[in-house]
Amino acid sequence: MGSIISAENPIGIKAIDHLEFTCETLETPTKELFYTFGFSKTFENKELATELFSQGQVRFLLVASNNPEDHSYQYCKNHGEGVSKMSFLVENAEHAINEAIKRGAECVQPLKIEEDSTGTYKSAIVKGFGDVLNEFIERPMSWFRPGYTQVESDPKAKPLTSRVSRIDHLTNNVPKGEMKKWVKFYEDVYGFQVTRYFDIKGVKTGLQSEVVQLPNGAVIIPINEPEAEGGKSQIQEFLDLHKGAGVQHIALTCSDILSSVKDLRARGIKFLDIPHTYYEDIPKRDFTVTEDLGDLEDRQLLVDGDKEGYLIQNFTETYVGPLFFEFIQRKNHNGFGEGNFQALFDAIERDQMKRGYLES
Ligand SMILES: [Fe+2]
Repeated sequence: MGSIISAENPIGIKAIDHLEFTCETLETPTKELFYTFGFSKTFENKELATELFSQGQVRFLLVASNNPEDHSYQYCKNHGEGVSKMSFLVENAEHAINEAIKRGAECVQPLKIEEDSTGTYKSAIVKGFGDVLNEFIERPMSWFRPGYTQVESDPKAKPLTSRVSRIDHLTNNVPKGEMKKWVKFYEDVYGFQVTRYFDIKGVKTGLQSEVVQLPNGAVIIPINEPEAEGGKSQIQEFLDLHKGAGVQHIALTCSDILSSVKDLRARGIKFLDIPHTYYEDIPKRDFTVTEDLGDLEDRQLLVDGDKEGYLIQNFTETYVGPLFFEFIQRKNHNGFGEGNFQALFDAIERDQMKRGYLES
């Protein structure tokens, strides 16, 4: 197989390897949340107080460090629970770190080579957006890391009938005026390309967003900034609660979202509630869905698309500090549900009129 390193992928990123979630203790409700989402514990390192949760290709590493020298410990102290490190699986870690530094990244951990009976592991770390670190890892796919033990079968696991397969995208919230800076970081250091730009205006608040990604879609990162500093937009609220930039939401790819969200709702996961009026409008929008509208409304799912295709999605309430999750199924559509902002706004207004709260 040829190398994936090219002008379009100068670092040689294959995928998101895992996301590190820092937490105060391993008895965190976040762990229960991962179980409720259908993840199971696959690896652990008791000495480091870390546990890896997996589902499909999605891996979340829960870290409860007690060591004040550790980045994850400091992140938790400064921001609370959340994503403290994004780890990229790369073709060649030595190339990745050298190239990233050459392209302007700040090195946090130079190339580290570890070996044990399971194989050779190479890793290196640079500074990412906010206080989030970016790691490059080159490793055998059958194991996670040296020092970890595999959990053969997790008695607490509750798999979904239709499991999630990968991270579709993960969204970075940054303070007003910093979106361009971080877009440039992802462009300069990783060779990501800007694929979309939104300027979403509600009645009172708004947000700006640019999407950067690897051209092959292996990593997609929308970056949001609030329309105004000190305003009341949802982005500013996140920044205030998280005390700075951070991962706002993680979108998980479903192959049968009707089934997955039905399971998740039955398990008590709270999603955005959608008024009935939203479903009345779907046939008037410029895409055609093959799902039964009654089934979509039963699961309270949102749809958005164009002539070519559509996506089905919904967002959970905030579950890890101000971080929330999105569940998404794409049907030949690469958007992010932009059309839903207006559609939801209109639907809620008409619902208010119906209830007599707003005058029609
Ligand atoms: Fe999203």
